[in-house]
Amino acid sequence: MNPHMTNDLHFDTRSVHAAAIHDEHGSVASPIILSTTFERNPDGTFRDHLYSRYSNPNRTALEAAVANLESGGDAGARGYAFASGLAASAALLQTLQSGDHVLLPDDVYHGVFAQVQELFTPLGITFSRVDMSNSAAVANAMRTETKIVWMETPSNPMLKITDIAAVAAIARDGSAISVCDNTWATPVLQRPLALGCDVVLHSATKYIGGHSDVLQGVLAVRGGCDALHEKLTRVQMVGGAVPSPFECWLAARGLMTMPVRVRAQAASAEQIALWLSEHPAVERVLYPGLATHPGYDIAKRQMSHAGAMLSFMVRGSGEKAMRTACSTTIFTHATSLGAVESLIEHRASVEGIGSTTPDTLLRLSIGLEHTADLIADLDRALAAK
Ligand SMILES: Cc1ncc(COP(=O)(O)O)c(C=O)c1O
Repeated sequence: MNPHMTNDLHFDTRSVHAAAIHDEHGSVASPIILSTTFERNPDGTFRDHLYSRYSNPNRTALEAAVANLESGGDAGARGYAFASGLAASAALLQTLQSGDHVLLPDDVYHGVFAQVQELFTPLGITFSRVDMSNSAAVANAMRTETKIVWMETPSNPMLKITDIAAVAAIARDGSAISVCDNTWATPVLQRPLALGCDVVLHSATKYIGGHSDVLQGVLAVRGGCDALHEKLTRVQMVGGAVPSPFECWLAARGLMTMPVRVRAQAASAEQIALWLSEHPAVERVLYPGLATHPGYDIAKRQMSHAGAMLSFMVRGSGEKAMRTACSTTIFTHATSLGAVESLIEHRASVEGIGSTTPDTLLRLSIGLEHTADLIADLDRALAAK
C-alpha cells in the first residue's frame, strides 16, 4: 500500500490514495504493469514479485487497499483478489474439507447457493440454510462440523438484515469462520470486520468497480486468522482464479470515487424508496432505511446509511412487474448493480427455476442520475398498460 497512507487518515482520503502505485516518472495516475514475470536481483534473490499469478503490483496494491478500507487499518488484515465475486466465494470454500458444513442464509445470493450445491456438495461439503435475520435460529442451526457461517446483509434481493455482531459471535463460539458478503453495503456504509466478522467478501464487479466494466471479487480477512491467510494464499496461487492487472487497475480506480458515489446513490435511493412506498401501484417496498422494515433498527446500528439498493413488489401480477421493467427509459433493464447508471430488474426471471423471489418483485440499483428524473421514469413505467 502507499507508504504515506497512515491509518489516522480519514476513510475518504485512504480511498483516494491507498491503492496508488508510484513510479520513477512521478506519474500521478497509477501505471498498469502488465508483465507476467519479474527479473530476479543480481544475487538470485527475488524482488517483490516473481510471477504474475502469485502477485503483481496492480493486484497487490488493490488487495492492500481493500484490506485497509475494510479493516480500518488493521496491519494484519489481508486482501485477496479473484477473477469474479464467485471466484472469491469458491476460494473460501476451497479452504474446507470433506465433511465440513457451511451455514448459508435462506436467501443467499443465488450464485453462491448454486456454487455450494453444484460444485462443493459433490466433494463432501454439506450445507444448510437458515433465516440469518433470526439470531436464535442461527444458533440452533450450528453443528459441530460447521466451519463457515455466511452472512449477506442487506441480502440480495430481499434486503433482509443480519445482525453481524450477533452472528459473528455465534460463529466464534462454534469455532467457525464468519463471512459477510458486503457487496451491497460496501465499507463506505458498513464494516463487518469491526463488528467481529472474520472475512468480508465483495463482488468488486459492483460498487468497487462502479462502472459496469470490470468483473472481479475481493476478500478482506482480519488480522489474526493465520491459518486462513495461509490457506487462501495457496488457493489463490495454485487455484489461479486471479484477475488481470488491468482489471485490478480499474477496481483500484473505482475505489477512489467509491465513497462519494455510494453516499450520493444511497441518498437518492432513500428518496425513491419513500416515494415508492406511497405509490398506489406498489404493494410493498423492501428498503432497510424505511422505519417499517423489520431490520430497520439493526441496519441503523450497523450501517451509516441503508444503501443504494432496493426492491419493491408491484400490485398485480408478474406480467405487470415485467411490463414495468420493460417500460423505463432512464433505468436500464439489466441485471447487476452498483454502477453509476441505474438498473431495474425482474429478479425471479434472472434467478430462474428454483427461485423463491416473488414474481412481482423488481430490484433497483440506484445510480447517479438526478433523483427527480428517476422518479418520473418509474412513475411512467408503473402506469404502462
Ligand atoms: C451479493 C452478491 N454476491 C456475490 C455476487 C457474485 O459476484 P460476481 O458476479 O462478480 O461473480 C453477486 C453478483 O451479483 C452479488 O450480488
